[in-house]
Order: sequence, then structure tokens, then C-alpha cells
Amino acid sequence: MQEHAEFPGKKLIITDGVFSMDGDIAPLAELCTLAEKYNCVMMVDDAHSSGVLGRGGRGTVDHLNCHGRVHIQVGTLSKAIGVMGGYVCGSRELIDFLYLRARPFLFSTSHTPATAAACMAAFSLLDSPEGEKLVKKLWANTKTFKRELKKRGFQFKVSETPIVPIHVGDARKRLSFRKSFLKRECLRPQ
Ligand SMILES: Cc1ncc(COP(=O)(O)O)c(C=O)c1O
Repeated sequence: MQEHAEFPGKKLIITDGVFSMDGDIAPLAELCTLAEKYNCVMMVDDAHSSGVLGRGGRGTVDHLNCHGRVHIQVGTLSKAIGVMGGYVCGSRELIDFLYLRARPFLFSTSHTPATAAACMAAFSLLDSPEGEKLVKKLWANTKTFKRELKKRGFQFKVSETPIVPIHVGDARKRLSFRKSFLKRECLRPQ
């Protein structure tokens, strides 16, 4: 960051909230501190954290208590939300700018009312006591999954989230692993 401190114009720090390959959680509070120190816009992609981390799955900003420190929060509606599409949260000014300038938004057909309704239903569910229970269940399932993998001798990188990276090895091993999955065979480390 130091070497870019004097660069002219606005600076943007972008991070994933949870990284998809290893399931690591971003050091968001530290990144926010950098953004504040160097006057940057702070943006988080919560594709793998919404519906998973934070109260009722509100994402990393809530999980890491970074409220008011992140200017742009984006995410997908295709993972934990279970539908499709994505979202951008930010200032009114940013959203109005995107309505006019975001090319995929301008040149794509909008979602069907059914898609929008399904997304709204998913968010209403997450925001209810039932949603809180579902998020808790996800974490209980994660614990069970990791424990059972360990019991069966699988080596995997310990992650802080439900993403469990298992390094199977070369392509041939991966293929046979996949076949076993599809046949619902009892998996063993290869
Ligand atoms: C970090 C991140 N952001 C956004 C997306 C996009 O999600 P979608 O498949 O809904 O376009 C993905 C997809 O995996 C992702 O990993």
C-alpha cells in the first residue's frame, strides 16, 4: 500500500470475504484500517459468505464487525441464497451511477419476477428465527463433515468456513474420485 499512497485519483481495495479455494476468511478489519489510512474505497465480494457468516448469514462485514467501514459489498444470489443473480450494496450515489453505467446491467435482460420473488423469500427466511436455525445447522453439518473426513483419513487444509479444500492429486485420481461421488460410494483417500 505504501508505494501507492501518492498515486493520484481514487484508490480501491477489493477483497473476497471468504476465498473460494481454501475457505479462508479475509482479514477485513485490517484491510479496512489500510483503506482508512490511505483514503481508499473498500469493497468486499461476499459470494462465499452471505448466508454463511454473520448474524442470519449477513456476511463478513457483520461477522468481523466492520459495519460502516466497507463502502461496497457485492455478492451472488446463486450460492447460499440458492437462486441466481447478484447484488451490490453501497451508497445511493453508487447505485444510481451503476444504473446508468454498469454495462452488464444495461445490456442484460432483467430477472423474471419469479427469480426476484425467490431471492426475496430466501432473504426473508434468513432474516427470521428459522434462518438463524438454518445457518446454525450449516455450521453443525460443516463440523460433522470435517470430523468424518478426518476419521476416514482424508488430508485437508483446515479452513474456518464450510469450504473444505481436499487435494486429490492428478487428473486421473480426480476423475475416479468424481465417479465414486456420483455413485455415492464410500470415499477413501486415493
Ligand atoms: C468470489 C466470487 N464472486 C462472484 C462469483 C459469481 O457468482 P455467480 O456464479 O453467481 O455469477 C463467484 C463464483 O463462484 C465467486 O467465486
